[in-house]
Parts: sequence; structure tokens; C-alpha cells
Amino acid sequence: MKIAVLGYGNIGNGVVRIVDELSAELKARAGEKIEVKYVLDLRDFPGDPYESLLTHDVNDILNDPEVTLVVETMGGTGAAYKFVKAALEVGKSAVSSNKALVAKYGSELLAIAREKKINFQFEASVGGAIPIIRPLYACMTGTRINKIAGIMNGTTNYMLTKMDKEGLDYAEVLKEAQRLGYAEADPTADVEGFDTCRKIAILSSIACGKFVDFEDIPTTGITNVTKEDISLAKEFGMSIKLIGYSDFTDEGIVSEVAPKLVAPESPLYAVSDVFNAIMVSGDMSGDLMFYGSGAGKLPTASAVVADIVECAKNAGRTVYEGWADEKVSLVSPKSRESRFFVRFDASLAAKAGIDVKICGGSAAFITGPTTYDACEAKYKDLSPVIIGLL
Ligand code: HSE
Repeated sequence: MKIAVLGYGNIGNGVVRIVDELSAELKARAGEKIEVKYVLDLRDFPGDPYESLLTHDVNDILNDPEVTLVVETMGGTGAAYKFVKAALEVGKSAVSSNKALVAKYGSELLAIAREKKINFQFEASVGGAIPIIRPLYACMTGTRINKIAGIMNGTTNYMLTKMDKEGLDYAEVLKEAQRLGYAEADPTADVEGFDTCRKIAILSSIACGKFVDFEDIPTTGITNVTKEDISLAKEFGMSIKLIGYSDFTDEGIVSEVAPKLVAPESPLYAVSDVFNAIMVSGDMSGDLMFYGSGAGKLPTASAVVADIVECAKNAGRTVYEGWADEKVSLVSPKSRESRFFVRFDASLAAKAGIDVKICGGSAAFITGPTTYDACEAKYKDLSPVIIGLL
């Protein structure tokens, strides 16, 4: 099987390396030898061991009948979309690690793959090396999924862990995350929750079989989480995590990305540093927890390579047909019952009229079961920051 890798960044290089280094193992699993015939990138890589595979022209790949699969590791939704769509349309299967592409164009790309009886696979787009896409569409077929909740962004989990362990401010840990190469120079997608939003949208679409549009998911990042919030949460015995969740209820799907206080009883409580974890609850299966490296070159590339083998084993047959085009209307999380952490200026602590914990200039308490809207209305005189409990 001859394949082409579109985009020779970190992940693309990881894929080429694994396909080469695990050649014998992959051949045994796939039933045929898998070989990278082209690597597409605008840049040159003088001296790179795979330099001879490089092309700057996608048409070399699209017009080569020997290439039956493309791997998209470019990122973004511009050229990545154009090239993947073009490849599928000429009958080549595609594998992608790109959550932005899958969240935005997944419905369309899956439909083309279905029609052509080929495959569009994207295990690496959520949770890096963690198997979660295939478990959702295949292994959990014998259960109805009630809830998905997870920590799906390594950068922000690293930052929140560091704020917690070292009592540092948001701005300080962001600098450290950038120095270590976790956070991009422009960290917006991670810290504003956009990355998590796309990931929970993909998982939710698979779970409910319809299109959950990431643009409809209320999303709050971690930029307003203070070190006092984290200390106060600790006083209540909890940690703060950036959570993406979907509740599949009788009233509809409630989906949200936001920082949440997590109690020690939750398996997500102790998930720290760059690790990701996704909990899936099913009515028959009970709670399942998927944990591991959610980002990074070789972990992510390993999931891409597994998809390549899955496609090789299933030539002529679409393994995952995807979700229906029908878009789901989401139910607002503001009407969902929960308990809330209410943080406000410590000078108003007496006015709150209830027992509060104080840290520096901030005070906080935790409500009983209520809704966000009711909580906001009840405590509006405190001008509080309100964070839900998971
Ligand atoms: N920026 C992402 C993260 C990369 O930090 O988890 C993996 O999608």
C-alpha cells in the first residue's frame, strides 16, 4: 500500500518515522507492506532522511493511482480541507489528526468516503494516542451513551496543574508552557477552550449519530481562572479542570466547555500535567475512563498509523460511516441543575451572609443544587465569578 503524508511538521514526521521503523509489524497487521511514497510540504528539508519523498505539488499525489491513502497532518481548515476532499473524491482513503477539519467538515468528508466505499478515519484528532473515537463508534455499540466528560487539552491541564502545585498566576504559567513548547506563541485555541470545543463536538457527533456543531457549544476558557480560585477550590477539597462535556438527556443534549470544580470522587480529579482523560458513561457499560498522552509527536502519530492500518485492512469497505447530516439543537447548560462555586470580593464576605472561605482578596462558597441562571440572579449583588461543579 502506497501512501502520501500531507504536511511534514511534527506529527507528519512522526508518522513517516513510525511507518518506516515498524514496517515489519505493520505489514503483519495490515496484510501488506505500507510504504510512504510522497511527503507534501511547501518547505524543503535538506539532509532529512526522507528528503527524497518530498513534493511541493499535491497533484503528484492526487494523480498517482498507486497512492491509495493520504494522511493529513497539516492542521487548519484551508489547504487541509481542499486536499483531503480532493483525495476522497478521486477514491483515496484519508486519515487525519486534525480536529478543526473533522469538527467543521467531518459530515461532508464522511459522506464522500461512504459514497466511494473508502475510509475517512481520525482517531488522532481527539486525545492524541488515547483510543476514543473507535471505542465510541465500535466498542460501545452495545450501550446507550449518557454522558461524555473529559480533559482534552494538554496545554491548559498543564497550566492549571502548575497553578495548583506552585501557587502561580495564569500569566506566569502561560509563559512557562510556551517556553516548554506546550502552548503556541498564540495560545488562544488552547486557553480559550476552542480546541476542547472541537474535540467534544466530534465525540458528541459520534455518540449521538447526528451533527453536533462546535459553534453551538458554549465555551469558556481558563483565562479568568485565578490562583485564588484554585486555592479556594482546594479548601473545598476540589481541583479546577477545563472540562468538555455532553449530557445526553431526554430533553436533549447539553454540551459545554468550561472550567469546573472536580471532586476527588471523580477519576478526572487526579488527571494532571499534560495528560488527557475522557470519561464515557453508558446505560449498559457503566463508566469507562480513557486516559493517556493527549498530544505530542509520537503519541499522536501512533494513533494516525493505527488508522492507516485500519484502512489497509478494510479496502473497499467503509468501516465507520459517520453521523447523519441532521444538525442537533443543543439545550443550554444554564438550565442544567448543578452546584456552583461562587467567588467574589472578600470585602463583601459579611454581606454574603453565609459561611465563606477566604483567600487573599477573594471569598467563595459552594451552593446547593440549582441552575446557573438562578445562582446568577440570587447572588448578583456580589458581582461574582461562578464556576460549576462537574
Ligand atoms: N494543543 C493541543 C493540546 C494539542 O494542548 O492538547 C493536541 O490536540
